Amino acid sequence: MSVVFQAENIHTYYGKSHILHGVSMEVREGELVALLGRNGAGKTTTMRSIMGLTPPREGSINIFGKNTTKWAPYRIAQSGVGYVPEGRKIFGHLTVHENLLVPPVTKGKWQIDTVYKLFPRLDERRASKGGKLSGGEQEMLSIARALLLNPKFLILDEPSQGLAPVIVQEVMRTVGKMKDEGIAVLLVEQNVFLALQLADRAYVLSDGEIVYDGTAADLDSDRERMESLAGISHA
Ligand SMILES: Nc1ncnc2c1ncn2[C@@H]1O[C@H](COP(=O)(O)OP(=O)(O)OP(=O)(O)O)[C@@H](O)[C@H]1O
Ligand SMILES: [Mg+2]
Repeated sequence: MSVVFQAENIHTYYGKSHILHGVSMEVREGELVALLGRNGAGKTTTMRSIMGLTPPREGSINIFGKNTTKWAPYRIAQSGVGYVPEGRKIFGHLTVHENLLVPPVTKGKWQIDTVYKLFPRLDERRASKGGKLSGGEQEMLSIARALLLNPKFLILDEPSQGLAPVIVQEVMRTVGKMKDEGIAVLLVEQNVFLALQLADRAYVLSDGEIVYDGTAADLDSDRERMESLAGISHA
């Protein structure tokens, strides 16, 4: 399996605050990898580093075989990396359909009609303003928008945050579908149980360092370890 994404010994800062202390990780073709850890562990910072939004000051990032460490975010996105940020940054004053017209048109399976087929609820609500959607619908819209770039690598930051349990299941099913479509996925998730059910492998971050690197099944079978490393969410 070829490597889609690889971070080698990255150190990322916000101003003088040293947040990531030599993080190394990778995602291979066809994999769904969970990135876990308590609040403030550095999960979002890792994703921002990958996307070039907060580039690492040391270490390197390779995506699809290219050194993207110093690339601008738009260039990383254009190379085939979809990013669904924490807090669903959709446009509240635009309709669902207008939100879907924002990303540039790209070649591939995911076009506006195919994402409406994947998310019939969005199709029904295409004339509704983004700000009027439920949390689950906003999450779908956020994922749909990322899919329109026809990414080969998708990174999702807490897609289930603040959603009702039944909607969480639906969002997780969607994430599983992305993997089935052949998209490599890096998933940050507070809901450790659900994430480990879906994932092939997992990393756990603690204070900006990787403290677990192994299969999702191994971590899932050791509840005590999982609790001490990643914290447990019953959401
Ligand atoms: N813009 C910023 N400026 C300064 N420090 C920041 C900034 N954003 C995050 N931090 C700090 O960096 C550390 C890691 O934050 P990060 O958001 O990556 O954690 P996280 O694992 O995503 O947490 P959560 O589960 O709460 O989303 C935290 O100590 C946080 O306070
Ligand atoms: Mg975060």
